[in-house]
Amino acid sequence: GRVAVLLGGDSAERSISLRSGAEVLKGLCNAGVDAFAIDLCAEGADPVAQLLAAEFDRAFLILHGRGGEDGTLQGLLEMLKKPYTGSGVAASALGMDKLRCKQLWMGAGFPTPAFAELRPETDLAEVARTLGFPLMVKPVHEGSSIGMSRVLDLDQLKAAYAEAARYDHQVIAEQWIQGAEYTLAILNDQALPVIRLETTHDFYDFNAKYEANDTRYLFDHQLSEARYDALKTLALRAFQAVGCRGWGRVDLMMDSQGNFQLLEVNTLPGMTDHSLVPMAAREAGMSFAELVVSILRTARR
Ligand code: DAL
Ligand code: MG
Repeated sequence: GRVAVLLGGDSAERSISLRSGAEVLKGLCNAGVDAFAIDLCAEGADPVAQLLAAEFDRAFLILHGRGGEDGTLQGLLEMLKKPYTGSGVAASALGMDKLRCKQLWMGAGFPTPAFAELRPETDLAEVARTLGFPLMVKPVHEGSSIGMSRVLDLDQLKAAYAEAARYDHQVIAEQWIQGAEYTLAILNDQALPVIRLETTHDFYDFNAKYEANDTRYLFDHQLSEARYDALKTLALRAFQAVGCRGWGRVDLMMDSQGNFQLLEVNTLPGMTDHSLVPMAAREAGMSFAELVVSILRTARR
């Protein structure tokens, strides 16, 4: 049947989705799949009307951020009885919500950096005393490091809160983990090779993710076999605890004591030429076309 690649959307990550989606469409067509793209919300279009008007049998979702990755689109497709790739409604909503996702992981006994929610009435000095510096300030429902800052003192914390609040009504401050950053791509509910990230930036920010050519993506993970297995197991369990299915990506840090700390799960990770899931698949010996066909097979209702 026909596959609709749903891309674009009106989130802050729209431009990334257009890049991811163009690669996905090309990959599917190279694999001989009858696929076409729908740019949801293009020029103020109504996504509900767009989906009702389109003829397709399955949807390949490659929107990032709110309105596409957060369960709302998944719910609409459920109502339309159209199979779609990746996680369902509840897992998508949780994956987009850094605060509730961390609470869920903490409740399940998984390690994730200590954090506080920042509200207009929050005493930021108290947060700083409790958590210490550096802190990462993050909008709760964003991706691609949009609106995020690393702060070293109270003045920076105030400014970073104001900046993050431009993107979201909910903001968290999370303890900064000094150490190596890792990511685990998951395909067919199995781990792909772990990638270790090295950036010359303060952290793996938007520019380091999509523009810079000096970000290093290393398969030499510098972990013993047992530690490597522990990382994969933790990330897979964290993925399952949120109820994610099919494919996704879990981001982690290793702290100075050598403990892994979960940062977040991405239910619709980037598929651009700078993105991590395609790199991990390539390392596992899969072509990009094989990767997208494999993701397409996750389409269910
Ligand atoms: N939010 C971006 C697209 C990612 O996680 O890859
Ligand atoms: Mg994310």
